[in-house]
Amino acid sequence: MTEQRGNWTSSAGFILAATGSAIGLGNLWKFPFITWENNGGAFVLVYLVCIAAVGLPIMMAELLIGRKTQKSAVGALKEAVGPAWGLVGLWGVLCGFTLLSYYTVIAGWSLYFFAKTAGWMVGGFPAGTSLGQVFTEQSANGGLQIALSLGFSVATVSVVYFGVQKGIEKIARLFLPVLFLILALLFTVSFAMDGSREALTFIFRPSFNELDGGSVLEALGHAFFTLSLGMGAMITYGSYIARNQSIVKASGVIVLLDTVIALVATVIMFTVIFTAGMQDQVGDTGTVGMLFISLPQLFFAEGIVPGGSFLAPLFYVLVALAALTSTMSLLEVVTSYIIDEHEIERGKATLACGSVVFLFTILAALSFGGADFASNLSAPGRIGNLLFAGKTSWFGMADHFVSNWMLPTGGLAITVAAGWFMTRESTESELVDETVPGWFSYDTWRFFIRYISPAAVAAIVVAVLFFGVDFS
Ligand code: TRP
Repeated sequence: MTEQRGNWTSSAGFILAATGSAIGLGNLWKFPFITWENNGGAFVLVYLVCIAAVGLPIMMAELLIGRKTQKSAVGALKEAVGPAWGLVGLWGVLCGFTLLSYYTVIAGWSLYFFAKTAGWMVGGFPAGTSLGQVFTEQSANGGLQIALSLGFSVATVSVVYFGVQKGIEKIARLFLPVLFLILALLFTVSFAMDGSREALTFIFRPSFNELDGGSVLEALGHAFFTLSLGMGAMITYGSYIARNQSIVKASGVIVLLDTVIALVATVIMFTVIFTAGMQDQVGDTGTVGMLFISLPQLFFAEGIVPGGSFLAPLFYVLVALAALTSTMSLLEVVTSYIIDEHEIERGKATLACGSVVFLFTILAALSFGGADFASNLSAPGRIGNLLFAGKTSWFGMADHFVSNWMLPTGGLAITVAAGWFMTRESTESELVDETVPGWFSYDTWRFFIRYISPAAVAAIVVAVLFFGVDFS
């Protein structure tokens, strides 16, 4: 290896970086929407069970594989389990690559809406503006989309370029507290709003007759996505953890923070929606709609959100920061693989990976009407219909592939590796030491990682393969 391997400077630095990876568009964009679609209460409860019973054990497994071997995804799996398992690592790298390529596009939208709402804050909201139209126009503007995602890619590359301590950890230490503060402010404001009771009831009062098998699987699939599991991202971050830090404690904190933030974000969004009495319209605008159409509109509507015109740009700062701490983790998965396995120096590796990923980001950026070849892959004879459940755009196909195929299969392989292929001693020595918290039982972990997690993840794979369930 050409350079000294980096390490997190402290336990807090690592926890912030990993929490930053976990908290992202999944928390702000996907979770509130799927909670809405699945009618709240019971779905949220099932999600919490999935997080605790499947997410937490796999988080520990990924981190321990990383720390044990001090290598990124491919090298770590080869060394911890066996040479053939390098393929699982490669599958993860490919997954990180694909996810990063389209995640950046949505991240770019947050820049656009920040600029837009900041402009309205200063100049006033032009009467009669249709937010649906604002959204469609910006997303169909190919040049604008490429510029926005290029901006975001450059930011991501700049962080990863400086490495684990001076780049990733530093930005996480700086931005996560800001993100928590903004969220706390929005949360406080939302309590003063009329719709907050209704929102809380919707989110926390379970009514199980609304729940079907599909919702359970969706909750499980999202547990993977939101915790950045199933593709070796946490193996990679784990590889920089010092020997004297407790993986168990860190996993507990990361999982807890991610979950709390997802719930808080959901309470805020639903409060705004219920206060405005907009519940009937939300479903129509889809996943994207809640974050980029309904919310900006409501921030500027009279008498709904106190101080809304000021909070709106702040809200998009929040989205951008959450996205950046995730994109840098995704790029790190790809870059650290190149650094470790091909012995290329970090600066060069980062620029190369960032540029290649960006080529695919261009396709994703043109997927919303910017260019026909990227937006309309389901036209007769094109591949969208055949392979990707009729997804019509490059973006849709990539998301479909990652959420339905890559994360569940990668996750299944990782649980099987940790539960069945690694010995008891090799996993126990990483998890149990003098720093281990009292609530942790190694035998319970081992039971979950051997039986519960693989069974749960296998259920997703079977559902996708044989029953055509779609998680994207
Ligand atoms: N957890 C991120 C979110 O909720 C998305 C994500 C999935 C991710 N896998 C990842 C981020 C790996 C970084 C690395 O938005």
